[in-house]
Amino acid sequence: MDTVLSGIRSTGNLHLGNYFGAVKNFVKMQHENRCFFFVADYHALTTHPKPENLHDNIKKVLSEYLAAGLDPEVATLYIQSDVPEIIELYLLLNMNAYVGELERTTTFKEKIRKQPENVNAGLLTYPVLMCSDIIIHQADKVPVGKDQEQNLEMARKFAKRFNHMYGVEYFKLPEPYNFGDELVKVPGLDGTGKMGKSDGNGIFLADEPSVIRKKVMRAVTDAGPKEVNSTMPEPVANLFYLLDLLSTPDTVEHFRSAYHDCSIRYGDLKKQLAEDIINFTTPIRERINDIYNDSDYLRKVVNMGAEKARASASKTLREVREILGYRPF
Ligand code: TRP
Repeated sequence: MDTVLSGIRSTGNLHLGNYFGAVKNFVKMQHENRCFFFVADYHALTTHPKPENLHDNIKKVLSEYLAAGLDPEVATLYIQSDVPEIIELYLLLNMNAYVGELERTTTFKEKIRKQPENVNAGLLTYPVLMCSDIIIHQADKVPVGKDQEQNLEMARKFAKRFNHMYGVEYFKLPEPYNFGDELVKVPGLDGTGKMGKSDGNGIFLADEPSVIRKKVMRAVTDAGPKEVNSTMPEPVANLFYLLDLLSTPDTVEHFRSAYHDCSIRYGDLKKQLAEDIINFTTPIRERINDIYNDSDYLRKVVNMGAEKARASASKTLREVREILGYRPF
């Protein structure tokens, strides 16, 4: 059984793309592996969020992942800042991470561009903290998107370097977890590519019906088919993809044939799509709100997660300290 670990951005509210993509896989995977999921709330500090938002952001994403089906009794679901062992390992790993290689990291270079007024050392050592997150539980596999591949590569490098420097075969080298064909890529509403966070492109699980209607009605289309049986341009095909995912086969068939005989009215399609999305997300949204408002439950989840995560993390840390030469008097 593999140990699989995934870090969740504390500002990463879930949209339908996440839901049908990674999260659906997490829900399945938690029964087949030893899984750790955590909210990366220390990483969040690298961009200096306001103290008044930090807790609420964490509470929101946690409620969303729970509502989407992560089971805290099955997986270990925790908040990064509840596990101080991660930070101690991060400090130790920092001694073997070189400034030059950190400066060359793509995510660091991007951040410098995005926030030139706040190039803090936490940004520089972000990959070291990420490495600590991963290897503290001896994770075998880490599901990461394209933008995090290099950070995972760095984690492997640091783990390998540790083993090499101390002449041990202690840390496992974490591999990317590949969802393969199972990863559904949901298109967005802005006409091209995947669903993302950008304005108007994504539908969030927590969006109210009125917001969903507005977003869908504004989705990009074209002037409509001019010839019978013409091929769909991407923006229209994307709407059909969403329809396929969320509507009944009858509805899909109805609009598909309307497209092919040129009688389609995109307004009707969008109205139907919006209602079908709302039908789908409403129970999830209600579950999110129920969980969000249930402080007792959330406290229980978080405490249980911290306890399980700390048990695993402190074992690693004890062994690492030993390897480094720290001995009790
Ligand atoms: N950096 C990741 C992101 O931005 C979040 C993250 C932090 C993470 N620590 C991690 C992901 C460890 C995987 C493993 O999405």
